Amino acid sequence: MVGRKISWWDPEIGDREYELVRDVLARNFPNEGRVARQLEERASALIGSKHAVTSTNGTSALYMALKAVGVGVGDEVIVPDLTFIATANAVDMCGAKPVLVDVEPDSMNMGVESFTNAITEKTKAVIPVHVSGRSADIEAICDAAGEKGIHVIEDAAEAFMSKKKGRCLGTFGVCGCYSFSPNKIVTSGQGGLVVTDDEEVDVRLRMLKDQGRPKRGTGGDDIHESIGYNFKFTDIQAAVAVGQLEYLEERMKRLRRNHELYVEHLSGLDGVRLYEFDLGSGELPLWTDIYSDRRDELDEYLMRLSIDCRRLWHPLHMQEPYRMPSENFPNSLDCSRNSIWLPSAYNLSDDDVLRVCESIRRFISGQ
Ligand SMILES: Cc1ncc(COP(=O)(O)O)c(C=O)c1O
Repeated sequence: MVGRKISWWDPEIGDREYELVRDVLARNFPNEGRVARQLEERASALIGSKHAVTSTNGTSALYMALKAVGVGVGDEVIVPDLTFIATANAVDMCGAKPVLVDVEPDSMNMGVESFTNAITEKTKAVIPVHVSGRSADIEAICDAAGEKGIHVIEDAAEAFMSKKKGRCLGTFGVCGCYSFSPNKIVTSGQGGLVVTDDEEVDVRLRMLKDQGRPKRGTGGDDIHESIGYNFKFTDIQAAVAVGQLEYLEERMKRLRRNHELYVEHLSGLDGVRLYEFDLGSGELPLWTDIYSDRRDELDEYLMRLSIDCRRLWHPLHMQEPYRMPSENFPNSLDCSRNSIWLPSAYNLSDDDVLRVCESIRRFISGQ
């Protein structure tokens, strides 16, 4: 049954964003200013952090967080082998070395044991990634890292408003980094955010994003106290993100509903395994991911029915810049080859999700 196209993800821009962007343009202040500040205040209130700092994108957010805790040349930073490559690239931007570790087969996230096994005297930080909004083993990783004086920077790019035991992911480590790219629950086109409770880190983040200036100036007779760069946001983008926040509750509800329908209709089906979310703990399934040892066939079958999915990333150890032998990464290799993200957008209807489930059931039963 080929029906209307079901996208894996589609962002949505509403009337409110147009209104807010028009206001910014009418005020003739398209640079980072009071709307970006408003976004930071709203985000830190929602997330429950003392500070929030906007940035150009999630990659620069990670880079700034690493730099703010002092990661530099000669340091090692432990990252999961199965993640979007930005996690490792942000480490490389600091001149440090990303050390790849295998992931847990049930969550596709870094577990505490693989983290502790990879620690050396050069380890300065660790970046647990919350893939699809599912929590990595964050409490155990923070405890183990704390004992060794290792900084925890959470890659919460996919976990905005996702929680563990009621506490937002991104607030367990010294910094949490989010992305506002188009396939996230809130988008500003491109955009990023770092949250922290640490006053000094907040000051360093603000200097890093603005040419080492502790205070915004004129661009003329300013005092630059340290090396910094330009990762400023713009009020145009911030206006889009602030507008998006108005639909946040509704979108969160819909994402949970999508996932619940998938669980209801796909659980127990031979040949398909859903990666679990702990909804009771507050985890927010941004994207529903499944494991199938006929993943490629399933993807092609669904594509013919106008149902778009997204295959998992290749493990980092198989990407040219980070190439290594596969023997230490059996789980990430297996998950990468056999997992796929099902249509997960917040604008899907029940009927859309049910059509995906029905199509998967037909595929499995060979009809
Ligand atoms: C896990 C993860 N880390 C980092 C990023 C980088 O974020 P951005 O694309 O905003 O730079 C993404 C992007 O989507 C991501 O999924």
